[in-house]
Amino acid sequence: MLKKKRLDEISWEDYTNLTQEEQAPYLVQANGRPYHVLIAQQFERESLDALCDLATRIRKIAKSKDGMRFLSDLLAHKRAMLYFHQPSSRTFLSFYAACQILGIALAEVRDPSISSEQKGESLEDSVRTFSSYFDMIIMRTPFQGFVDKMAWILSNTERPLPIINAGSGKDQHPTQALLDIYTLQRSFEKSGGLENKHIVFCGDLKRGRTVRSLSRLLTFYPNIKQTFAAPDSLQIGEDILQYLRNANVEYNVTNDFKGTIPEADAIYMTRIQDEWDTSPGESKKIDLTDYSFTGADLERLPRKSIIMHPLPRRNEIDTACDNDPRAMYWRQMRNGMWIRCALIATIFGRDVAINNYYTLNLK
Ligand code: NCD
Repeated sequence: MLKKKRLDEISWEDYTNLTQEEQAPYLVQANGRPYHVLIAQQFERESLDALCDLATRIRKIAKSKDGMRFLSDLLAHKRAMLYFHQPSSRTFLSFYAACQILGIALAEVRDPSISSEQKGESLEDSVRTFSSYFDMIIMRTPFQGFVDKMAWILSNTERPLPIINAGSGKDQHPTQALLDIYTLQRSFEKSGGLENKHIVFCGDLKRGRTVRSLSRLLTFYPNIKQTFAAPDSLQIGEDILQYLRNANVEYNVTNDFKGTIPEADAIYMTRIQDEWDTSPGESKKIDLTDYSFTGADLERLPRKSIIMHPLPRRNEIDTACDNDPRAMYWRQMRNGMWIRCALIATIFGRDVAINNYYTLNLK
């Protein structure tokens, strides 16, 4: 278990000079539960297992009216703010639904043009202002490092509150990685669990934040092999490969996506993140024909393997695959709601009440 360090005992300059691994202890509570949720490195195998188990229990409790009543009373005294500065459908709505299930009252700011940022207020001041009215902020921003800055600022006020990173620039998307882990775990429940599996990532691995978070979480499961299939210009960052080497994880970097399909246990497709292009049409010049999953590829994918995608998709996965039992991308979305419920309940220490309720009523 990570041993908690205090964010109000380190200067912002010193904090930013730490590696993300070194920052992780500043994000947890003394009891090991997450407080701010900013990076994949703050999780461990034990906390991932606890979150997945809790998500499953919440899912089962939510099937009955009594169960829903119990859940919706758990955090009825809390308010959360969704602050989304980048487009979002799934992440926004699944957080929204997760908060509703737990009884949390919600407010949202999705359009900065209607907030006081228009009057010249800094982003930091705006978020600190919002924080006065809420108990948690869930935030998506294009600016790498901004969620971290706000977590540090708020931890240094008289009224600290947890911040959840719902996607920060090109860097990380830790709660997407949690739902991906939950989906993988559920999908492989009957085939030996996540251990010893081969996960193939394909697409824009350079600028896709979901892969950068998931690849790190996968290092907690023994003997997983990771393959990164992308054109050279979109290949995974050296920082992730270094992380995998440090964790003694076997990996493979390749241009031959199609060749990996018969050997994959999970294929994780991603879209081209062209919003990050530095010159207009830059991504359009890249030949992507070999980096999509087609109906014909279903024939070559082993029977027990799965296809994932954080969505939204463009044409990386042919719609002909959508009703194949191995297509898990629809399930990922609903799993996202349950794991986000589990995460929020854990941050506020209500995991104990949920586990007790489950043991008494559903076991
Ligand atoms: C992803 C994101 O925003 O990083 N979407 C999501 O949260 N499900 C992936 C993407 O936009 O390609």
